[in-house]
Amino acid sequence: MKSTTQKKKILVTGGTGYIGSHTCVELIQSGYDVVIIDDQSNSTSASLKGIEKITGTRPEFHPFNLCESSHLDSFFKSHQTLQGVIHFAAFKAVGESVEKPLAYYRNNLISLMNLLEMMTKYEVPHLVFSSSCTVYGQPDELPVTEQAPIKKAASPYGNTKQICEEIIEDTLNANPGLQGISLRYFNPIGAHESGLIGELPAGTPNNLMPFITQTAIGLRSSLKVFGNDYDTPDGTCIRDYIHVVDLAKAHVRAIERLLEKQNKTEYEYFNLGTGKGSSVMEIIQSFERTSGQKLNYEIVARRSGDVVKIYADTQYANQELGWKAHKGLDEMTESAWNWEKKYRERQSTSK
Ligand code: UFG
Repeated sequence: MKSTTQKKKILVTGGTGYIGSHTCVELIQSGYDVVIIDDQSNSTSASLKGIEKITGTRPEFHPFNLCESSHLDSFFKSHQTLQGVIHFAAFKAVGESVEKPLAYYRNNLISLMNLLEMMTKYEVPHLVFSSSCTVYGQPDELPVTEQAPIKKAASPYGNTKQICEEIIEDTLNANPGLQGISLRYFNPIGAHESGLIGELPAGTPNNLMPFITQTAIGLRSSLKVFGNDYDTPDGTCIRDYIHVVDLAKAHVRAIERLLEKQNKTEYEYFNLGTGKGSSVMEIIQSFERTSGQKLNYEIVARRSGDVVKIYADTQYANQELGWKAHKGLDEMTESAWNWEKKYRERQSTSK
């Protein structure tokens, strides 16, 4: 057992959110001391409680927005032993970003710039950044490698991920003490096996999995499948769905890589997926299999901006990062359903 004084302290921004909370659990269970900053614009303190129940440790929590630079400065001033930062905090709804581009640019870019400024000022040397396969658009070749060209973003949200990666690259170039890794996620779904933390979108879900589980629990009348006339085997779009716990473990591996100076260059990026593409219909079938429920769904028109198919080439992450996704589709849909049921049960008994 490591003693408390030896624990490495990591700041997790957006740590009460979906991927952030799962990463906090994995960090704590790997022996790290976790400090969270989150303005809770798209999360609640329920995830803090969940992290505490799973790990036995309640992380130190600071509720504010990273755009508040003087607040962030005071935070860094009073946390001089930080060894790294995992930066999740950002707006992430594709459709909303089209309607409110400036809100997305302001929030996602300024928070990163403030963070990098403080990391430079207070000499916190390691950054892991939450990026997305959205930077590739519809790639010309599948599976998509890290060398695939970055295409013009299909939404302001996607553009913020591209610009953030560039901001990081330029900042690391200018500051040799700083090192960073961008993790480009494919489609994270599922939840921690305890059902104590999971995906809880505010309002109507935009993403497939929470829409499925909310439909099955009776909150939505039916899932709309956006198009079944694509050039794919069953006509629905194909994505590389990855279990959020596998994804969370990759963050622990990435911060470890930086702390142990295993990185090959000051800025690296990795695709995080399973390497396997699944269609919308395959997700529905897996959900029906693992939940034992028939899902009410209807086929409707295509959603504008959807890429037809994308899945990751995982070789680089497997070999170089030393990480691999292990959980299959059924574990993903089963755990998402377990979370939805348990969360709603807790809600109804706490009323
Ligand atoms: N889908 C439906 N019905 C729904 C929701 C989604 O049929 O109600 C379909 C979509 O058309 C798509 C698939 O399910 O074919 C997955 O859609 P999601 O919205 O869950 O995920 P996306 O792949 O569109 O979006 C994800 C991330 C974004 C990121 C994008 C990059 O959520 O943050 O990948 O491609 F920008």
